[in-house]
Amino acid sequence: MPHTVPRRVVVGISGASGIPYAKDLLESLRLCGDLEVHLVATEGARRVAADELGIPLDELAGLADVVHANRDVGASIASGSFRTLGMVVVPCSATTLSKVAYGVCDNLVTRAAYVHLKERRPLVLVPREAPLPLPTLEAMVKAAQAGATILPASPGFYSRPKSIDDLLGFVTQRILDLLGLVLDRSPRWKEG
Ligand SMILES: Cc1cc2nc3c(=O)[nH]c(=O)nc-3n(C[C@H](O)[C@H](O)[C@H](O)COP(=O)(O)O)c2cc1C
Repeated sequence: MPHTVPRRVVVGISGASGIPYAKDLLESLRLCGDLEVHLVATEGARRVAADELGIPLDELAGLADVVHANRDVGASIASGSFRTLGMVVVPCSATTLSKVAYGVCDNLVTRAAYVHLKERRPLVLVPREAPLPLPTLEAMVKAAQAGATILPASPGFYSRPKSIDDLLGFVTQRILDLLGLVLDRSPRWKEG
């Protein structure tokens, strides 16, 4: 029997502004079909979600197949033997980004990210902070050198976005592309 990687994706949410990006990604992953989505959020994410979504973060649980507790460092996604197509942390706080850059695994989001680096699997970090101080810039370089892709939550305007949905779609499309998932969420340059 040929071995294929199970179609699983890990979505981590941390406490940066931009929780709507996570919601948009989860909704898009639902449309990818035949995909097992594992979701884990930090306490910081819950705090920010209360402001940005107006609903508890737990209400996004229905968009995932498996929801993990961030304190459960014994969860499936904490192990390198649990195969996935990749992981995204969206939005990625400066705190979580710095932990990932320096190999700190003090919760399930950071442990799962560490595992993706050690197994050389795609890891996409979507930071949102402005302006960026030197410690965060250095952590970005460190994480990129370790194999992560840094995808700032800064949508382009060349596709002339008309709504927040268009802006969210721009970032979601980049994440999907980096994870090798096929879905047309947003117009592509010169492709209409
Ligand atoms: C409303 C709100 C907005 C925040 N926005 C950001 C942000 O855009 N970027 C960031 O790095 N941290 C932001 N923070 C701070 C983080 O939530 C905080 O540093 C937290 O400890 C991050 O921990 P975590 O990575 O475990 O979620 C924000 C906090 C709050 C309450």
